[in-house]
Amino acid sequence: MEKKKSFNTKDINIFKNKTFYTKTDIKTRDLGKKFASVLKPQDIVFFNGNLGAGKTTFIQGILSYFGIKKFVRSASFMLVSEFKTKFCPIYHLDLYRLDENNALNLGIDEYLFGQGISLIEWCDRLKYYNIKNRWEINIDYIEDGRKIKIKRFL
Ligand SMILES: Nc1ncnc2c1ncn2[C@@H]1O[C@H](COP(=O)(O)OP(=O)(O)OP(=O)(O)O)[C@@H](O)[C@H]1O
Ligand SMILES: [Mg+2]
Repeated sequence: MEKKKSFNTKDINIFKNKTFYTKTDIKTRDLGKKFASVLKPQDIVFFNGNLGAGKTTFIQGILSYFGIKKFVRSASFMLVSEFKTKFCPIYHLDLYRLDENNALNLGIDEYLFGQGISLIEWCDRLKYYNIKNRWEINIDYIEDGRKIKIKRFL
């Protein structure tokens, strides 16, 4: 695995418990791309926000930072997409269709507690919601775009 060039603790403070406002999907993607620089293997990022809030858009930005240009959709019919990067694997989990009671049967542990970075939409479906070490990104509609709150829990 390659070491990421731009990771440093200063970057974390730019995002830790901060709120951002984006007027367009391009700005949301850019924010995701910048945020990605703080991520390291085994990190878990939970996304909260209504349908069409911009969770997948933010995730597209994260993936582009890691060199993945492939279009990522809000593919709610696909539970997990795995992306190989030079740095570490990245898992995109979209749990929209997940019945809360199924969560344990899916081998989701493999992703959450593996070597990769897990990006999880609709994490309220997950039994592990109270996982301690995580990033949480809340996206809300506002009149003029989106409000994006980023929190770090340890
Ligand atoms: N400021 C903005 N940030 C993000 N998306 C925006 C913004 N303004 C408009 N959009 C549009 O909102 C939609 C966001 O879709 P996206 O798939 O990212 O949402 P989602 O939260 O992943 O939804 P789902 O819950 O269905 O997976 C896109 O069509 C995007 O172009
Ligand atoms: Mg989505």
